[in-house]
Amino acid sequence: MVIELLEPLETLTIREATWNDFDAIMRVLSIVDHEFVPPLTEGENLRVKVSRILNDRRRSWIKAVDDGRIVGVVAVIYHYRRPQLGLIETLAVLPEFRRHGIGKKLVEYAMSKLFQNGMEATLITTWETNVAASAMYNELGFKMILRKKVDGAYFKLFFTRSFEKRAPSRNGFSRFWSRR
Ligand SMILES: CC(C)(COP(=O)(O)OP(=O)(O)OC[C@H]1O[C@@H](n2cnc3c(N)ncnc32)[C@H](O)[C@@H]1OP(=O)(O)O)[C@@H](O)C(=O)NCCC(=O)NCCS
Repeated sequence: MVIELLEPLETLTIREATWNDFDAIMRVLSIVDHEFVPPLTEGENLRVKVSRILNDRRRSWIKAVDDGRIVGVVAVIYHYRRPQLGLIETLAVLPEFRRHGIGKKLVEYAMSKLFQNGMEATLITTWETNVAASAMYNELGFKMILRKKVDGAYFKLFFTRSFEKRAPSRNGFSRFWSRR
């Protein structure tokens, strides 16, 4: 029914995750693991990955919650390699919740966290065959800066976007936008 399809978006919230969300984050990542190139579990144990980010003050998990259930996640890393650079990584939305704008909202929220925490630019990567992610990053104003072969097996694309502060808006919030 149409109502069942529309309802999830109306109840969607995006927030920073906490240790209470450990199992739910694990669940989402386990479901999408095989879609990543290479799979997330090939790089490191998922429990270690989720814990490492929750434990580190310079990293956070962001969660998309629909009707009390985590349906998407993304990680942010402040001060990645350079003091002013933030990294957005491990973006994942449950298959049945895709194409409702959740991935985009997660990345936008991640960008605002990086901006609020003083980052001047953000970096995000994906594998070349990931049409969905590349299209989203382009739509969000990211520019592809590097295409690099990894492990002689696949091409990794690097996207960046710069932030610039402007005067607070009337409701008191500053927005970020590209320095292009
Ligand atoms: C990539 C992913 C996070 C997108 O999540 P989503 O919630 O479906 O994305 P959104 O609905 O916010 O889509 C935003 C934009 O991305 C692009 N996009 C998303 N899915 C797409 C697809 N299957 N094909 C082409 N473009 C797509 C579109 O430009 C879309 O805007 P539009 O709906 O206005 O056309 C999701 O497909 C996913 O979890 N994939 C598996 C893991 C993954 O690839 N993670 C990214 C690693 S870098």
